[in-house]
Amino acid sequence: LEVNTSWVVARKIPQTLFGLFFEEINHAGAGGIWAELVSNRGFEAGGLNTPSNIDPWSIIGDESSIYVQTERASCFSKNIIALRMEVHCDECPAGSVGIYNPGFWGMNIEEGKTYNLLMYIRSMEPVELTASLTCFDGLQNIASADIVDNNVSDWRKIELQLFARGTCRTSRFELTTSKRGVIWIDQVSLMPSDTYKGHGFRKELIHMLMDLRPKFLRFPGGCFVEGEWLRNAFRWRETIGPWEERPGHYGDVWKYWTDDGLGYYEFLQLAEDLGAEPIWVFNAGISHNDEVDTTTLAPFVEDVLNSIEFARGSSESTWGSIRAAMGHSKRFPLKYVAIGNEDCEKQLYQGNYLMFYNAIREAYPDIQIISNCDGSSKPLHHPADLYDFHVYSNATFIFLMKDKFTRTSRKGPKVFVSEYAVNDATDAGNGSLLASLAEAGFLIGLEKNSDIVHMASYAPLFVNDNDRSWNPDAIVFNSWQQYGTPSYWMQTFFRESSGSVIHPVRITSSYSSSLEASAITWKDNEDMFLRIKIVNFGSHTVNLTISATGLQAGVDTARSTVTVLTSSDLLDENSFSDPNKVVPVRSGLPGAAEKMQALLVPYSLTSFDLAL
Ligand code: AHR
Repeated sequence: LEVNTSWVVARKIPQTLFGLFFEEINHAGAGGIWAELVSNRGFEAGGLNTPSNIDPWSIIGDESSIYVQTERASCFSKNIIALRMEVHCDECPAGSVGIYNPGFWGMNIEEGKTYNLLMYIRSMEPVELTASLTCFDGLQNIASADIVDNNVSDWRKIELQLFARGTCRTSRFELTTSKRGVIWIDQVSLMPSDTYKGHGFRKELIHMLMDLRPKFLRFPGGCFVEGEWLRNAFRWRETIGPWEERPGHYGDVWKYWTDDGLGYYEFLQLAEDLGAEPIWVFNAGISHNDEVDTTTLAPFVEDVLNSIEFARGSSESTWGSIRAAMGHSKRFPLKYVAIGNEDCEKQLYQGNYLMFYNAIREAYPDIQIISNCDGSSKPLHHPADLYDFHVYSNATFIFLMKDKFTRTSRKGPKVFVSEYAVNDATDAGNGSLLASLAEAGFLIGLEKNSDIVHMASYAPLFVNDNDRSWNPDAIVFNSWQQYGTPSYWMQTFFRESSGSVIHPVRITSSYSSSLEASAITWKDNEDMFLRIKIVNFGSHTVNLTISATGLQAGVDTARSTVTVLTSSDLLDENSFSDPNKVVPVRSGLPGAAEKMQALLVPYSLTSFDLAL
């Protein structure tokens, strides 16, 4: 393998090449990175017709002692449903009558930590309630606090902290009373007090994202943005402002309710916390089953312009002032928007696209606009800065896609591969080594074609193990554990690529059809590195002589390393019980030199990092 590191043939990779695509799918947000522990906190999920289902809330006690039902009784006009709890016993045994919420398949409560409870109550009588966190279906109490209040005839906000005396991964939140009477309850939130920077993100999960050093964050989804029906699509305006006043909505594609605590503002905040460019995918007036006619699209266009003003308008502007009131007077640097998701073939897309495009271009000429139409094999019918390209397939197909953009026209918009993955069940399982190697080959191809491909992100990012509606995913978690699939770890090989310099490589080998390689150089502070990544997508051990020409400095052998991602079986996966079965292994590289021998084990991704 020959690497030519001469600057004459080198090219800079775009600063934004590798990033993340976050979709509210598989409970990635609600019950995932958004740390809210209460599910259906406003009792809104059962719908507006009362009485409605309060799932997953349940009663404690039997029907002779307690009766609950939802009513249109809230003090919040946009989410009018509240719970009416009627207790029939005079001296109910402590803790035996009330309601409980199990969160998202159990709440992870940890000894020594505090949890912030915030809720609204109302009653004609003084109330005596106990808020507690319990384990084993209520048998063990690990945190509790009493709420005694004589002044609740109007809705009253209750705020207190619960201190955990024990650890329980599947706790539930209980609200009980010993006193006869009627109490209305609404907007019950329980958050760990140690979320990332107090921004509401679950720390371990955001740290896994940070470890990939993403350069952009595409949000809030793909199909989630569209909805099966427009009435269930993501509407940014309903997700901003005080959380108590957000109506929440049912995501009808992935079939679950979200309280929208993780709303448009929080996505912008997440991008900022990750040091990533926000990419706002908005609904193009098109869902899976209905479309807004272009002639009546004007209010939707106005709404999108408002969303941009919310992100980047001054604190004095109409929408920027709402952002500032939420705690972020600084503008969010929104520079990319995508008009819809996978909607190119929809009847009204072309017309709707142009309406959005023209309005955004005029108001915000610097914003990069992303089209849903694939321009890789023929020119687009409309202007765009980038076009979206999605690919899901089997491992061989994805590996061979490494050459896809070599043949693409260099004229016109740049490529955004915003969703890629091996998702064939046989090849990928729940996330296999094989899938990750095929994807690595594809990404190396994207690096080489990064004069035209400017962005790429794996999909989907997260899965809560209790709701696998899409398989595989990069990060698997439950209430208290998380691990990366091999596809997650594969991405760590590319975290230095964005903004680095790519050099031509040439492989001469009888196995070259199953090999793919790239070479990049980058600076880490004052230290310079050359990274040669090679995927061996075949069953043979390959011996290569690597020679690098044009190096301006010698190789510092002592600081050079080699990192390998492989496993004994190509279908090996990680799991909660064996999270590190397929992870990169890094070691010293005593033979590191301008000319050196390399051994590539079958089905592997190897990174030779030479310190210069
Ligand atoms: O990533 C899962 C889904 O795949 C996305 O919602 C959609 O854009 C694509 O079809």
